[in-house]
Amino acid sequence: MDDKFSPVGSQVKKITTHVLKAMKQAGEKISMLTAYDFSMAQIIDQAGIDIILVGDSASNVMAGHETTLPITLDQMIYHASSVIRGVKNSLVVVDLPFGSYQGNSKEALTSAIRIMKESGAHSVKLEGGREIKESVERIISAGIPVMGHLGLTPQSIYKFGTYAVRAKEEEEREKLKEDAKLLEEAGCFAIVLEKIPAHLAKEVSESVEIPVIGIGAGGGVDGQVLVLHDMLGITQEFSPRFLRRYNNLHEQITMSVQAYINDVKTQDFPNSKEQY
Ligand code: KIV
Repeated sequence: MDDKFSPVGSQVKKITTHVLKAMKQAGEKISMLTAYDFSMAQIIDQAGIDIILVGDSASNVMAGHETTLPITLDQMIYHASSVIRGVKNSLVVVDLPFGSYQGNSKEALTSAIRIMKESGAHSVKLEGGREIKESVERIISAGIPVMGHLGLTPQSIYKFGTYAVRAKEEEEREKLKEDAKLLEEAGCFAIVLEKIPAHLAKEVSESVEIPVIGIGAGGGVDGQVLVLHDMLGITQEFSPRFLRRYNNLHEQITMSVQAYINDVKTQDFPNSKEQY
C-alpha cells in the first residue's frame, strides 16, 4: 500500500478512534463506506478503507424496504458479525436501529452492549443530538465508542416528511451546531453529517476536535462516507447530487448473468475441461 494512502503516513495500520483523531489533526481525510456482509467487508478492508459502517441502510439495500425503520437489532447483529469476520484493519461502526435506543438510556445501553458482545464490532452510531445525550453518555461510560449522526437522520423520515437538504433555516442550523458541540462534550469519537449545506458542515468541522464525516455535506469536513451499493452502481434509482458512482455493477452483473444463461441454454457450459 502506498504510504500516501495510509493513516497518518504509516504503513497499513489497524484503525482505532485514536488514529482517526490523529488523522484529523494531521489533515488526512478519512474514508468510510458501508458494508453488510463478509465478502464485501473483506474486499473493502483489504482495499484500505478506514471505517466500515454496518449501516441501517441494510434495511434498504439488503432487505428492500423503503425506509431504514423496519430493520431489527437482531438483523443488525447478524450483518455486523458477518462484516467483522471479514475485517482486519478497518474500524467497524454499527448503527443502532430505530426503536432500539429512543425509549430510554437503559434500553440504549442494553442494545449497544448486545451489538458489541454478539457481533464483535468496535463501536456504535446513533442518530440525533440533545434528545439522545443521556443515552450517548451512558453507552460511552460503559466503554463503548459512539459515533453521532446529525442533519438528515433517516430514522426520522416521517417527522421530516422528505429526504431534502436539512438545516437550511437559521433555527435548524443553530440547533445542529449546538448538537455537534454537545455530542463532542458527551464523548463521541466522531460525527456523521448528512445532507446539509457545505459551508455549515465546514463550520461544524472547524468547531470540534473530533472528526466530522460527511455524506452530501461537501468537501470541508474531515472525511466522506457513501453507501457501498450506491457508489458501486448496484442501486440504480437513487441518484442524489452528492453521489459519485465508481462503477456500474448493475449493468456488469446483468451482462455476466445473461452470458451464463446463454452458455447453459446453448450447452456451451460446462465444457470438457469444466467437468470431472
Ligand atoms: O445507514 C447508513 O448507511 C448511514 C450512512 C448514510 C451514513 O447512516
